[in-house]
Amino acid sequence: MTITIEQKDRAPFRACYRADETEMVTQLATHAQVSEQNQTRIKSLAADLITLIRAEEAQGTWQLKQLLQDYDLSTEEGVALMCLAEALLRVPDTATADHLIADKLASADWSSHAGLNRPLFINAAAWGLMLGKQTVGGSAKPQHWHEGHQKLISRLGVPTVRVALRSAMKALGELFIFGESIETAVKKSLKNARELEYYSFDMLGEAACTDAQADHYFNHYLNTIKELARPDNKPTSPAISVKLSALHPTYRPLKQRRVVQELYPMLLSLCHAAMNAEVSLCLDAEESDRLELSLDLLEKLFDEPSLKHWDGLGVAVQAYQKRAYPLLEWLAERAVRAGRKLQVRLVKGAYWDAEIKACQVSGLNDFPVFTRKLNTDISYLACARFLLDQRDRIYPHFATHNAQTLASILEMSGPDHAGFEIQRLHGMGEIVQRRIRREFGVPSRVYAPVGAHTHLLPYLVRRLLENGANSSFVSKVAHSEQTIDELTEDPVVSFKALPETGNPRIARPTHLFMPERLNSSGVDFSDREEVAALHQNMAEACSIQLPVVVHPVIAGSPPNNIDGANISVINPADHDDYLGEMSQSSASQAQY
Ligand code: FAD
Ligand code: 2OP
Repeated sequence: MTITIEQKDRAPFRACYRADETEMVTQLATHAQVSEQNQTRIKSLAADLITLIRAEEAQGTWQLKQLLQDYDLSTEEGVALMCLAEALLRVPDTATADHLIADKLASADWSSHAGLNRPLFINAAAWGLMLGKQTVGGSAKPQHWHEGHQKLISRLGVPTVRVALRSAMKALGELFIFGESIETAVKKSLKNARELEYYSFDMLGEAACTDAQADHYFNHYLNTIKELARPDNKPTSPAISVKLSALHPTYRPLKQRRVVQELYPMLLSLCHAAMNAEVSLCLDAEESDRLELSLDLLEKLFDEPSLKHWDGLGVAVQAYQKRAYPLLEWLAERAVRAGRKLQVRLVKGAYWDAEIKACQVSGLNDFPVFTRKLNTDISYLACARFLLDQRDRIYPHFATHNAQTLASILEMSGPDHAGFEIQRLHGMGEIVQRRIRREFGVPSRVYAPVGAHTHLLPYLVRRLLENGANSSFVSKVAHSEQTIDELTEDPVVSFKALPETGNPRIARPTHLFMPERLNSSGVDFSDREEVAALHQNMAEACSIQLPVVVHPVIAGSPPNNIDGANISVINPADHDDYLGEMSQSSASQAQY
């Protein structure tokens, strides 16, 4: 792959892809730092917001608290629930799904989560899961509340459990889905309409596996835009969020040419439809290895003459990525070059666990994301300050539920609090955003997922991870042992007090199997410079004179006589390409 001149301007953020965490955070902390006076005001506002959340919670109106307490990821059941959601999501056939369910249910104590006084969805989940465990032969002791079900349970099989589990997941999903169809979702948004509160509709569905799925999602987006354009039914300042992985089955780094050729026309049609309907369109941020691919498409949109005067185009940037800050600099510069105002949604990032694992499995040099939450918070604040300084060319959306982060943004934005909006996910953060709208006049937007429950699971898994992780703000605020003082600490101050920047509990990809051995190193196919170097090496290797004759090497040198078979070697990708001869050692020689 050749790196084009245009792409050379991406060098600053490419250099940070897997950069040293300490160096990055030290630099970011200088941008995120605030004066002591600012710190005091931020702390006081954040404390007010937390008190508000906890007061609401005490009235029993904050459903997520129960979810967090019942399925915290520090419990065996929380982790098993996560695995089950994944299993149900990924397994195509019911027989394998049943095996997985049986396996996952064998180890956890679901009965402790069931109780008569809990909300319906908790009971549904606990009942479904405990039913599963009883049926597949787990050892949970029967509790009084379900004794009446025992006979029934013994007659049930795993398929019934599968159905119960799916209903349990459905009940959980109801917390996070805004509507099952765009028509009902729009109606609901109009009914709930409040001053300064807007919606961005997200069509559930991602990671298309076939062209048919991609076409289906494309039509779904298009219909949504049409629905939002109906003059009799139009919400104020409507927006949609688009996941590019839904629009193409091979939206992956090595398929760049195909993706640009085939996905771009679809994206352009959606943008034209959105522009004509006066609907904003934001590209969601997905896995970090897809970032450059999304920028290829975004750059083409930037330079599209037919979209020149449209300022409804937006992109999400994940602060947990080490590239976030230089990426924002690039976006700001690129927007100016294209003569347009860009919308940027700043998020912390929803794929953290997957990023860490994928990188370890692939044996890459270093992580693309930070390894401490604190570092992500600092990056978020540094990026927020940058965006606030660029309000003449960028319209920032600050998407966070964290009271400390929100209070910092309000403080950094200056006395007028103008030129930006805050955003929350449906089912989360409502009370805080209401207060900020009323007190500071800052508009807020709800990210409103729309779709059938069958498409919910990847989204639901991310929400459960986010809500169940004991490091997340929503989880901490729900646990009264966390003091307000701890929850409102300035991340830069906390960072300075730490002995080391990276998280010592997370094995670096290269050190995954230490002290036994170093991890085998993989190729980072999303790093275009590394891929270009690989191509170069492959070209050099291919330039040798063919055919070649190769012999075995045993204990560092070729054996004196070779007594194994001789075989011809052809290029597996092209059977007319004869590469040469390979002689083999015999089994007795290899045992040397
Ligand atoms: P906090 O509790 O303050 O932060 C939690 C976050 O910290 C985690 O999500 C993770 O990003 C980070 N984190 C946790 N542990 C660690 C660790 N050990 N090391 C480093 N970082 C860590 N996410 C996307 O990826 N793409 C999107 O397009 C997107 N769109 C969104 C739109 C809206 C309107 C909203 C509200 C959120 C969106 N999100 C998106 C999800 C978002 O990334 C999470 O909701 C967000 O990270 C939670 O952050 P917080 O400030 O609310 O909570
Ligand atoms: C997600 O789908 C909200 O885009 C974010 O998790």
